[in-house]
Amino acid sequence: MTRRPLVGGNWKMHLLRADAVAYCDRIRAEAGDLPADAVLFPSAPLLALVARKLGGSSIACGGQDLHPEEKGAHTGDVSGPQLVDAGCEWVLCGHSERRQNHHESDELVERKALAAQQHGLKPLVCIGETAAERESGATFDVLDRQLDAALAGRPEPFALAYEPVWAIGTGATATPEIAQEAHAHIRETLADLTGAEAASTKRILYGGSVNPENAAELFAQPDLDGFLVGGASLDPERFLAIIRSCG
Ligand code: PGA
Repeated sequence: MTRRPLVGGNWKMHLLRADAVAYCDRIRAEAGDLPADAVLFPSAPLLALVARKLGGSSIACGGQDLHPEEKGAHTGDVSGPQLVDAGCEWVLCGHSERRQNHHESDELVERKALAAQQHGLKPLVCIGETAAERESGATFDVLDRQLDAALAGRPEPFALAYEPVWAIGTGATATPEIAQEAHAHIRETLADLTGAEAASTKRILYGGSVNPENAAELFAQPDLDGFLVGGASLDPERFLAIIRSCG
């Protein structure tokens, strides 16, 4: 089964409009010649600008989060229709920084993934264990619980990102063996939930301290279909190098 690689750039709470314009101009110039699908996840005030700058290219734009309801009194939140209106195709659901800093439950992640699908957005659902969970031998249980919950509403299409919390922003990238073991497990659980054929087509990205130096070795793992990149996505040259390592 060949799965076209997918690489996301999660800008988190970084970059201003002038940075985003220069970044998009640079990456757009290479967009016709990339071995993977690519999507940028800027913070909300930059979304419309980035989507416009990337419009008509092969590089998509996505939100970092969405509220499960389509409108209402939710100060500071962004709805699915607003993301679509800004030009987004994708949205992150359940990033560990949302789970930790905003106390997002598995059940809320499920509602977000479903809301994304209902509004025509593709959810990129993030799952991953903490260091304590890994040390206590609970990694697979945590992944199964998060997957089970996030997919309970059966969103389709969707993609997954395995992001061990201990590897995010720490420089402590998972070894290719650890990443492959987790990805293979996720694909097995996915097969139980959605059937073997559907699971074999799903893209499972790895995230956590990915950089141009470690990307190719990780990408060589059979169940790893691309990356969700944080820090290294802030520099278009490094982000492009990571995308090219999926060739
Ligand atoms: P990082 O972040 O590449 O800076 O570790 C990844 C992520 O949080 O998606």
